[in-house]
Amino acid sequence: MNITVVGTGYVGLVAGAGLADFGLNVICVDKDVTKIELLKNGVIPFYEPGLKELVERNVRFGRLSFSTDIQKAIKNSLVIFLAVGTPSREDGNVDLSFVKEVSMTIAEIIDDYKVIVTKSTVPVGTNRWIKTIIDENKKSNDISVDIVSNPEFLREGAAVEDFMRPDRVVLGSDSQKALAIVKDIYRPLYLIETSFIVTDLETAELIKYASNAFLATKISFINEIANFCEKINGNVHHVARAMGLDGRIGPKFLHAGPGFGGSCFPKDIKALVSMGKEHESPFQIVESVIRINDGQRKRVVEKFDKLMDGIDGKGVAVLGLSFKPNTSDTREAPAIYVIEELLKKGYDISCYDPEGMPEFKRIFPEDRIKYFNDPYSALKDTSCAIILTEWNEFRNLDLNKVKAIMKRPIILDMRNIYNPQTLRAMGFVYDSIGRP
Ligand SMILES: NC(=O)c1ccc[n+]([C@@H]2O[C@H](COP(=O)([O-])OP(=O)(O)OC[C@H]3O[C@@H](n4cnc5c(N)ncnc54)[C@H](O)[C@@H]3O)[C@@H](O)[C@H]2O)c1
Repeated sequence: MNITVVGTGYVGLVAGAGLADFGLNVICVDKDVTKIELLKNGVIPFYEPGLKELVERNVRFGRLSFSTDIQKAIKNSLVIFLAVGTPSREDGNVDLSFVKEVSMTIAEIIDDYKVIVTKSTVPVGTNRWIKTIIDENKKSNDISVDIVSNPEFLREGAAVEDFMRPDRVVLGSDSQKALAIVKDIYRPLYLIETSFIVTDLETAELIKYASNAFLATKISFINEIANFCEKINGNVHHVARAMGLDGRIGPKFLHAGPGFGGSCFPKDIKALVSMGKEHESPFQIVESVIRINDGQRKRVVEKFDKLMDGIDGKGVAVLGLSFKPNTSDTREAPAIYVIEELLKKGYDISCYDPEGMPEFKRIFPEDRIKYFNDPYSALKDTSCAIILTEWNEFRNLDLNKVKAIMKRPIILDMRNIYNPQTLRAMGFVYDSIGRP
């Protein structure tokens, strides 16, 4: 069976390489010529642990290839996975123009039965809309397509593992035939007893939004608890640990910090709120989560201002630009807001991130902030260090060296990776989040 995956971003490339690893013939297509050229030359366009090896192995075995010829790939495949971007529009609604573009291409090119599998995160109703677009624009009524909604839950930074060993696979469709074909594709996951949720199209679409909104809510919840801890001299780390030991709550996504970012949570919760408004069934909790998360970013700057009150020194080091560790993805990263605000206040920014700098340079070119190849060079002669991403390499900095090279030993640790007592005993002025 030939499979086409349209869109070779985080989801499409991981899914394409993962499906090839299941033993299927996969062609990954993208309209971005540069990306496809890089992939043909064995270069992965972004950082994702384990992906390079997975891609290399499957290209070597001849099961995985890359192309910009979308029409040809679609024509030769029974199953077409959609993994194109679905960014937010200004009004919070989802921009479905890429999905529409691919749907039109499919309609124009197909001359026999196809199964369209939507991996992109799309608002409720989109899969039916895709089918309508194809049905209304196809060349002949003798050709049919079926649609399966198959939302993706992978986490950047652990995407390969998540795709190969998912917590669950969600499939929504009206067509038993299409479901049987897609279940056959995922047969290797049945062998490892993955849970399959088979449902209708709308429910499958909603599962993705409900899951992301719930995770975002956990983060905002613990951030509010952290802010309250600061008022009462409490310790959010202890609160989160004790809460997490309750099996009904669970320990994950209870880490206080500068607020969530990334390409999914911010856009998906805005989209869910829009859907609720459209159907006159408001998502009040999720609306609050958006407000709390915006406030949390502002809080980083408020904390910074408090630490720097009366201190004369313009150099600030920002450690961590990606929205979380183990990814080069800086979309909606807290660092974007924080750096913009500090630049407005006239500070000079030096920064370092193990993987996120190339992408960040597109947002903040080198004439606006300075980039360094290691944390110590970024910290040198600065008056404050702000830790915004908990990369492992920031957990074990040589603190004596840090203290010696900084102009003033002030640290704002927005990921709570250091022990406040230890740092203060070493002579640092140290603040973190929700801990005395
Ligand atoms: N990144 C994640 O962690 C994640 C996790 C789960 C779900 N999702 C969802 O998956 C989808 C893709 O996300 P991503 O992060 O991989 O996006 P991305 O922006 O990294 O990649 C999307 C790719 O689609 C390509 N594309 C756009 N229009 C095209 C067209 N007409 N023909 C061919 N290629 C086209 C782009 O060039 C790009 O390479 C989104 O809906 C997202 O919400 C993302």
